This record gives sequence, C-alpha cells and structure tokens, in this order.
Amino acid sequence: MTHRICLLSGDGIGPEVIACAKDVLTALPLDFDFTEWGIGFEEYQRSGSPLPDSTLQAIRHADATLFGAVTTPPAIPNYFSPVVRMRQSLDLYANLRPTRSIPHESSRSNIDILIVRENTEGLYSGIERLEEDGNRAITERVITRKGSERIIRKAFDLAKQTNRGTVHVVHKANVLRQTCGLFRSVAFEIAKEYPDIELKEMLVDTCAMELVRAPEQFEVIVTTNLFGDILSDEACMFVGGLGVAASGNIGVDAAVFEPVHGSAPPLVGTGKANPVAMFLATAMMLDYLNEVESAQRLQQAVNECIANLETTPDLGGSLTTSEVTEKVKFRILNL
Ligand code: NAI
Ligand code: MG
Repeated sequence: MTHRICLLSGDGIGPEVIACAKDVLTALPLDFDFTEWGIGFEEYQRSGSPLPDSTLQAIRHADATLFGAVTTPPAIPNYFSPVVRMRQSLDLYANLRPTRSIPHESSRSNIDILIVRENTEGLYSGIERLEEDGNRAITERVITRKGSERIIRKAFDLAKQTNRGTVHVVHKANVLRQTCGLFRSVAFEIAKEYPDIELKEMLVDTCAMELVRAPEQFEVIVTTNLFGDILSDEACMFVGGLGVAASGNIGVDAAVFEPVHGSAPPLVGTGKANPVAMFLATAMMLDYLNEVESAQRLQQAVNECIANLETTPDLGGSLTTSEVTEKVKFRILNL
C-alpha cells in the first residue's frame, strides 16, 4: 500500500528538517508518494497567500501531511497565520503533544504524558474586537458541546488504545463558570462511556505547578486551546526541550504532523537544526497511518542516537543536521 504524503516545508529551517524526514522515510520498508506544497511567508511572497487553496486541497487529498515551520513576518495587512487558518479550515480539532522521557541528561525520567489540546475554539476562536477608540479590547472564548465532546472522547480513546488508566481534565471552572463549566461537565458525561479509565480533574494553575513538581503523575491531559498551548510548552522542557518536541493535528479526514519549534532563522544553513523533533512527528504520522512497527523503529533509532550523543549541539553533541539524519537512517537499516 502506498501512502500519499503531503510535505509542507515552509520557511527557515522548515525545508531542512522536512528533507531529513523524507530521507528517513525512504529508509523504511514502506512505499510513499510525496507531493510538496507551499505555506508561510515565502509562499506569500511568491503567490500572495501564506496558505493557498491548492495547499489546503493537497492536505485534504493526502493520507497524512508533514509540516516544517513558518516564519511570522512583521505586521503586514492581509497577512494571516497560516497555522491557525490551516487548523480551522481543515477542522483539525485535536492537537496531540506526547511528552516522553528521552535517554539524555536534560530529560527527567519516567515521564510519558499525552496532552490532548482542543485546537479550533476556546480563546483562539478569532472573535476579537477593539472598542472605545482603542481603549478596550475584547476576545470571546467560545466553548461548544460538540467541540468539547469530540476532544474529550479523543482523549479517552487514546488513553484506551495506549493502556493508560487515567485522564485529567484541566480547566478553571471555579472562575470561568460557563465556558470551563461546560467543558468540565461534558468530560464527566463522556467518562461514563469508559468505565475502565478514571477521570480526574485539576485546575489549570494547579496543573502548571504539579507538572513541575511531579510530572510522572500524569498520563493523559485533556484541555481547552490556550491552556493546552501553554501546558504543552511547559511539559516539553522536562524531556529535552524544543529540539525534540513533536505534535500532531488530527481532524476527521486530514492530519498534519509537525515539530513544535518554529522556523529558527538564526539556525538556517548552520547545520545546527536538530531534526529529532521532526523525526518524532514523523513517527507519530506513521502510527496514525497504522504503520506501528515502522513508527517504533524510527522512535527507537532516534532514542539510540540520543543515548549515544549522536546529536546536534542543543543536546550536547557535535553532529550536524544531516549527520544526525545519516545516523538515524543507519540505525533504522540495522535494527
Ligand atoms: P523557534 O522555535 O524558531 O526558536 C526558539 C529557540 O529554539 C531558538 O533559540 C532556536 O534556535 C531554538 N530551536 C528551534 N528549533 C530548533 C531545532 N530544531 N534545533 C535546535 N534548536 C532549535 O521560535 P522563535 O525564535 O520564537 O520564532 C522564530 C519564528 O518561528 C518566528 O517567526 C515565529 O513566529 C515562528 N514560529 C513558527 C511556529 C510554527 O511554524 N508552528 C511555531 C513557533 C514559532
Ligand atoms: Mg505553542
């Protein structure tokens, strides 16, 4: 079976890490049909849009998409965030952020958390306005039953699939009584469908603290858009940081996998961009495509490289982006 993969390189180090991902994919015993499409600031300069319709169509048409990163330009009228637009246009409602220990001194041990963040509504609904001559700004926080049900169900389904026994719903319902109140009550309703999984609840500020104090206590965290954005960045710092943090944006009929980091302009062309975050995003994509064995092989190859300090300088190694890629490929072929 051939998997149709849409590649979105984007800007900065995006094209470098996407090339590495393509390279390691071709080392696996699988068939891929790759197509490449434009996104980001360079695409805007070329075509007038940071996210052309043709790119959205290509993502819909593909079995899965790998995305590098984009650069946010200085304020330009008509410019919009292609990342937020992509998530909303394709209704990629679930943002998955696994946070797993890596065999490296910068990583705490025994951590295996999956953060499931609602990706289309909440405070990022895009409903904002400036009133009173610019002296009062309002953002509306939209939480729907439908949006809450599907993300909470996704969290429980993933907990079940990965044999995790607890799901934490993280909210601030003591203050945000309507929006967080709805999200919380939907969580308790959905939990009844999963009698083998325990639902725990935690206020978001407590969760931020508990993540620092004892991250091992968490298995799956499900939360609203902004809270998930912040908590997942916090969590990745316990397990090696941005160079190794990956994420997936999952919808009903499209899925986009990406490193958490941005386009890192100062690293372009230096060979210092760590491709591991992109590789781990690629492993998530393989899982999504049901190529579980290949996903594990890639993950294991990456872990062995890290354990042997075959890494870029951000993880204390002295290899370049393409040297790390060669090492990962070598291990894939020889595992
Ligand atoms: P950044 O993630 O690009 O860089 C933050 C820090 O992490 C820098 O010190 C950078 O050198 C380092 N870093 C990032 N990726 C790395 C890698 N693969 N290996 C080693 N070190 C790495 O975030 P920053 O600097 O805030 O933003 C740069 C541009 O990226 C901005 O235009 C921003 O808007 C955009 N951005 C795009 C994102 C996306 O496409 N999803 C996400 C975050 C930022
Ligand atoms: Mg973020």
